[in-house]
Amino acid sequence: MAKEQENNLKINNSEYGRSFYMPAVPGIEKLFTRGIPNGSAVIVEGGPGCGKTIFCLQACVHACEKGKKVLFMSFEEPENNLRSHLKMFNFDVEKFEKKGLLRLKRFNALDIARSVEALLSEAKKELLIDVQPILVPQDFEPDLIFIDSLTSISSAFSGESNRFRIYMEQLFRYLEANNITSFLIRETPHPTHIGTVVGGDDAAVSFLSDGIIVIYNVFYEDGERKRAIEVLKMRGEKINRKIVELQIIDGKGVVIYPDKPLKGKYVLT
Ligand SMILES: Nc1ncnc2c1ncn2[C@@H]1O[C@H](COP(=O)(O)OP(=O)(O)OP(=O)(O)O)[C@@H](O)[C@H]1O
Ligand SMILES: [Mg+2]
Repeated sequence: MAKEQENNLKINNSEYGRSFYMPAVPGIEKLFTRGIPNGSAVIVEGGPGCGKTIFCLQACVHACEKGKKVLFMSFEEPENNLRSHLKMFNFDVEKFEKKGLLRLKRFNALDIARSVEALLSEAKKELLIDVQPILVPQDFEPDLIFIDSLTSISSAFSGESNRFRIYMEQLFRYLEANNITSFLIRETPHPTHIGTVVGGDDAAVSFLSDGIIVIYNVFYEDGERKRAIEVLKMRGEKINRKIVELQIIDGKGVVIYPDKPLKGKYVLT
């Protein structure tokens, strides 16, 4: 069978019973064939200030516009900061909050670490803990969850990386069992898959996830800085594997240029 036919067959098979979600970030559609399979857990990673939060907030509001219920869990910025970011890009946050479609909620990572500790002692250190009470507000059943960021949660478990891993395993299990599509932000000082050795918590999270989207801070030899994006992995979807330009535009938000692959002498940071 011709390679292309074979690939098409694989794609059609993977489509059975599955629907896809396309984050409404202009240009991203060309990096996918159909989108992100619903129920996937997707890591959005990148260095400081590359645009992870804005990318996710934008995806979040557009999902609400399509009638999805979305929970944005922030371990970093207070709710009001997130609202003002959204306003700067002309998104009507309050409208969706009033409709009950959008819940922006700030969490304290140390509280999560303490709750996990308490639950683990209660369960006599068994691996199974119920993450729901310490994760999702009980009166809200989201279709999508955004977590900003796994890195903040991880640092609250300082010195207890085993517990963080247990928590992550349970979190991924919870998301899967409830068919929740999720975007999990991870801050990386260096892109984890180029050159650097990935180990420990980062590797565990990478293997647990269904997809990885990387946003880069690009540094050019002539001193110019740009941003770029790549879909590195997406289980169950044929992706367009290339690194393309991304811009953050005032009044508009994140825009991806799928026909502008990076050129010249640059370093990805
Ligand atoms: N109104 C705006 N117009 C254009 N660019 C903006 C605007 N607001 C913010 N930015 C750019 O977006 C960047 C921050 O994006 P964002 O907060 O999403 O990054 P991040 O990857 O989440 O960063 P961190 O690692 O600090 O959480 C800023 O560094 C700034 O350059
Ligand atoms: Mg951020």
